[in-house]
Amino acid sequence: MSSTEDVIMVIPRELTQNPLRKIWMPCKNGLPEKHISQKRVCMTNCPTLIVTVGLPARGKTYISKKLTRYLNWIGVPTKEFNVGQYRRECVKIYKSFEFFQSACFPFVFDATNTTRERRATIMRFAEQNGYKVFFVESVCEDPSVIAENIQQVKLGSPDYTDRNTEEAIQDFMKRIKCYENNYQPLDENLDRELSYIKIMDVGQRYLVNRVLDHIQSRIVYYLMNIHITPRSIYLCRHGESDLNVRGRIGGDSGLSPRGKEFAQCLGRFIQDQNIKDLKVWTSQMKRSIQTAEALGVPYEQWKALNEIDAGVCEEMMYEEIQEHYPLEFALRDQDKYRYRYPKGESYEDLVQRLEPVIMELERQENVLVICHQAVMRCLLAYFLDKSAEELPYLKCPLHTVLKLTPVAYGCKVESIYLNVEAVNTHRDKPENVDISRLPEEALLTVPAHY
Ligand code: ADP
Ligand code: F6P
Repeated sequence: MSSTEDVIMVIPRELTQNPLRKIWMPCKNGLPEKHISQKRVCMTNCPTLIVTVGLPARGKTYISKKLTRYLNWIGVPTKEFNVGQYRRECVKIYKSFEFFQSACFPFVFDATNTTRERRATIMRFAEQNGYKVFFVESVCEDPSVIAENIQQVKLGSPDYTDRNTEEAIQDFMKRIKCYENNYQPLDENLDRELSYIKIMDVGQRYLVNRVLDHIQSRIVYYLMNIHITPRSIYLCRHGESDLNVRGRIGGDSGLSPRGKEFAQCLGRFIQDQNIKDLKVWTSQMKRSIQTAEALGVPYEQWKALNEIDAGVCEEMMYEEIQEHYPLEFALRDQDKYRYRYPKGESYEDLVQRLEPVIMELERQENVLVICHQAVMRCLLAYFLDKSAEELPYLKCPLHTVLKLTPVAYGCKVESIYLNVEAVNTHRDKPENVDISRLPEEALLTVPAHY
């Protein structure tokens, strides 16, 4: 047989569907093989080290924390490493670099990194350990911004527990002076090989250089959309709906009588708050629009704010889902964040759908978002830095407004119940979820087409 006649038997791999996420996976000998996208590979082959640069009180920690929170929320696991904290714990900086080794996720390295030599050391370390480096520099000379920043976050720091305010401010200004003497800002010519964004005058201007990949471009996009103007975001759900009253999920019903009463109360509450230039956003679902109508103010409808699509389970009661689709029901309890309804969505899908809403919320000032239980949980998780495990169980009751106000590095939350009774739509995670104990027939109740 000549070599051209050699027959190479290529056994086609079969596909099997992951029951939790409904993703098709190749399988061999009846056993699923991990798809490449499910192995622990990074989107860009090697992880990113995000390194802050700038004098003290320029918002580096603020940016690091916020960026880390955003990346984690969109599903890019990220860790933040603050040198100041380590200094207080008396750990030497080079020793602490061990922390980074063998990690496969992005790190935000929050320190002043004000000299070229220090940045070169970081670059060498990154090269040796297979990291891409992206610098984020904040340059700001406005004395009123710096004074405000010191007041807001520095005076409460453990460094100043026993000092009076004036003394602490003076000390901090001296600390800034020490860094100023050696500060070498990122330079358009000298640092032209580096990847970076330079944020000038709290986002009035930016300089962006050598963006290397998707994740870096998302970082740039995010940092170009955030601002620090004081404001509040108000989150609530639509008023109680007819389907809520009947204990059914999803659908597109209108408001119940109590739901209509809530809508009126919400209108009065918003009026009493006397909020400057308030924007009102709704989903495109009847119950959310009907709630906004009662406010008598202009509002904008977002399809992205529609409630989670429960697919074949839409308009069912939880008990009915458990009865008709016991495996599906148990799978959801097992991993509620990743579980995708047959022909519907998961919380993970919802977060991706809501990303443009978060970006626009970052750009805006005062906003009221009238949304839905699952949607409100996703938005709240972003602002409160909640994990994927906590997110689907966050408590977002009907007829309750959550007022979120940025403070220091986080968010203050006020919960305002508007005193109109409503059904409880929250279902806690059951204590024991064990799908291995489900009867085999449970599998058969899942229709073959998904
Ligand atoms: P640093 O880490 O640089 O010492 P911090 O992050 O502790 O400074 O400072 C926090 C303050 O910085 C917050 O009050 C925040 O409003 C403000 N801030 C956030 N972004 C910026 C920016 N781009 N320029 C200046 N200040 C900022
Ligand atoms: O029950 C109201 C509702 O908004 C449903 O439309 C939706 O499916 C559900 O809440 C989401 O909550 P959970 O994820 O806890 O089922």
